[in-house]
Amino acid sequence: MAKPISRHVPLIIGNWKTTPATREEAVKFVKGLDRKITTGKYKLPRRAYYLAAPDIFIPHLKAATKNGYIGSQNVSGTSLGQTTGQTIPSQLLSGGADFTLIGHSEVRATGETADARAHKVALSLQAKLMTVLCLGEHERDKGGKYLQELEDDVKHALSLVKRDLFEYLVIAYEPVWAIGAKTPATPQECFEVVIALRRALATLGGIDYAKKVHILYGGSVLPENAKSFLEEGGVDGLLIGRASQDVQDFYTIISSCH
Ligand code: 13P
Repeated sequence: MAKPISRHVPLIIGNWKTTPATREEAVKFVKGLDRKITTGKYKLPRRAYYLAAPDIFIPHLKAATKNGYIGSQNVSGTSLGQTTGQTIPSQLLSGGADFTLIGHSEVRATGETADARAHKVALSLQAKLMTVLCLGEHERDKGGKYLQELEDDVKHALSLVKRDLFEYLVIAYEPVWAIGAKTPATPQECFEVVIALRRALATLGGIDYAKKVHILYGGSVLPENAKSFLEEGGVDGLLIGRASQDVQDFYTIISSCH
C-alpha cells in the first residue's frame, strides 16, 4: 500500500500522455534518466521524480527504475465487477502504480463530468492510492471570478472525501490555457491561485489538514522556468508534459528543482 508522501521533497511529476510508442523506448528513457541522476554532478534524493505513464508500461517501468515513482494518468470510477475496458484504483496499486492523476483537462475534454471526477477521487483515496487531482480555469476574467470558481471546483472534487485521507492527496493547478501552449502562467499568477486553493482546503478540512496537501503547478513548464514556480509561485512541485518526454530536459528540471 502506498505510503503518504513527504512534504519536504519537491514533487516533480512528468505526464507522458500518449507517449512513448513502445515499452522499449519507455524503459530506455527511465534507465537513461536514472543514470543521469546517479552519476550527474548534483546530489539528488534517491527517488527524485514521478512519471505518469500509459498503464500498460507501469510494471515494466517499475522494474526498470530505482530513482523514480511510476503512476497512471487516470482511474476508472467503476467498481470491481462486470464493466469492460476499465482499470480501478486497487488494480493499479496491485499492478505497481505509486500514484495516479485524476481530472486532467485532456480527460475532462473527453466528457468526464465534475461529479464523475469527484467519485474517482474518492475511490482512489479510499484505496490509499496517492492521487493528483488536476484542475484549472479555461480562461481568466479581469474581475478574478475564476479564483472563486477554482475554490468551488476543489470543494466539489473533494466533497466525497474524508479529511484524514488528505495525506494521500496532491492538487495540480494547471490553467488550461497554459497546457501545451507557448507561455506558462507567471509565478505571481500561480501564487494567487495557491492561496485560493489552500483557503478552500482549510474550509473543507481545517488548517492542519490543508497544510498537508502538496500543490503543484503545470502548464508549459520548461527547464528555464521550472525553478521560478517553486521559488516565487508558492507551489510544492510541478506537473510537466512535453518537457518530461525528453530525458535531458526532464533531468535539468529535476536537478534544478531539488
Ligand atoms: P505541457 O507541459 O506540455 O504544457 O503539459 C502540461 C500538462 O498537461 C501536464 O499534465
